[in-house]
Amino acid sequence: MIVGIIGSGGREHAICSKIRDSIKNGKIFCIPGNAGTNSIAENIEIKIDDFKSIKDFCLKNKVELLIVGPEKPLVDGIVDYFNDTKIKVFGPDKISSQLEGSKIFTKKICSKYNIPTANFKIFENIEDTKKFLVNSKYPLVIKADGLAAGKGVYICKNFNEGLTATEEIFAGKFGTAENLLVEEFLIGEEMSYFIVCDGENYKFIGTAQDHKRVGEGDKGKNTGGMGCYSPSRLFTSDLAKKINTRIVNPALSAIKDMGTKYKGFLYVGLMIKDNNPYLVEFNVRMGDPECQTILPLLEDDLTKIMINSCSGDLKKNEIKLSKKKSICIVLCSKGYPEKYKNNTQIKNLGSLKLKKNEYLFHAGTKLENNEILSSGGRVLNFVSISENFKTSRDDVINLINQLSWGNGFFRKDIGYKVID
Ligand code: AMP
Ligand code: GLY
Repeated sequence: MIVGIIGSGGREHAICSKIRDSIKNGKIFCIPGNAGTNSIAENIEIKIDDFKSIKDFCLKNKVELLIVGPEKPLVDGIVDYFNDTKIKVFGPDKISSQLEGSKIFTKKICSKYNIPTANFKIFENIEDTKKFLVNSKYPLVIKADGLAAGKGVYICKNFNEGLTATEEIFAGKFGTAENLLVEEFLIGEEMSYFIVCDGENYKFIGTAQDHKRVGEGDKGKNTGGMGCYSPSRLFTSDLAKKINTRIVNPALSAIKDMGTKYKGFLYVGLMIKDNNPYLVEFNVRMGDPECQTILPLLEDDLTKIMINSCSGDLKKNEIKLSKKKSICIVLCSKGYPEKYKNNTQIKNLGSLKLKKNEYLFHAGTKLENNEILSSGGRVLNFVSISENFKTSRDDVINLINQLSWGNGFFRKDIGYKVID
């Protein structure tokens, strides 16, 4: 089996490790990968928006399964771009990817198919938004429509904050904006719910909760994710039924009604209030660091699951998840999410002794002259699974302390809601 993986983060290293488990003698190419994937696969230096070069490479090297990690190539239509080849591309097509690519697209589906979500209004210019904001109750949420790499969402406490958000979005801070979304602020506890779909059927593949803020106690600036735990403490089979019937099934029907079929991972971002789910967002990929947190719990063959997703055969695929508790802590470069140094050497990595239940995924690293250097804000992801969250977290912290990388910092309170 020859597999390609697009992306270079911790999510893609976690996917790569799991694929490596199932195709021990197969070939894996990571496009472009990082220093971690380099040790179990071959990194290929092609930009992830260069679809032509990716296609040429895959055809030349007889790639059979191409896994797309991040959202951008999906939203830009990489799956459709491969339609004239026999290569199985894991992920949703361009129309389906609008579920993440346009928040307004998703909100319109929510209205048409009665999917529970925050009340909302769409505005096309500053003046109309301003008129609405003057007479609104706060807090409320203002969102840019398109992809904004985890930014583009403002929780506004008053009119002035609302006005700043509106001006920034219409000024093009997140790309040309023809409209924006103003949403009711939902109160509850967040949970991320993951499924994998094959166009007809879907299977549950875990829940998780990430910590987005840089500081302990969930304070400070937003980041791409400082850590995560799985499963969510809110998860019950009763809640899963509600999520499937009220949110997942109608959304997948909506995609079918548009003449296509949803395939790949679907990340359902939820607010849970009084044991009822409200949709906050869809993502058309696994989360990062949710993926690194969940995949170590997966007791099935990921390659098979992905191939079955592509070919519409998931129905016969059991997906077993361990009952263990998983914690992932992200080791970041000092200064992140603002200014930080790149290219600082991470020594000792080779001497870390991982136990069977411990995992290390690279996120922002690169290999230069046989040295591992940092190359991003979020650098390494340490994961441990065990019978309880406290043990998992203690294991991870112990590992990070052994590394003692001078330019790194991390949150010691990941999972505090399920530990303290
Ligand atoms: P999104 O990119 O839409 O997931 O928003 C990013 C984060 O903003 C979410 O994970 C929530 O923490 C928060 N958020 C987004 N929309 C709402 C809402 N309507 N009410 C409360 N919090 C929200
Ligand atoms: N951890 C949030 C995301 O991947 O969108």
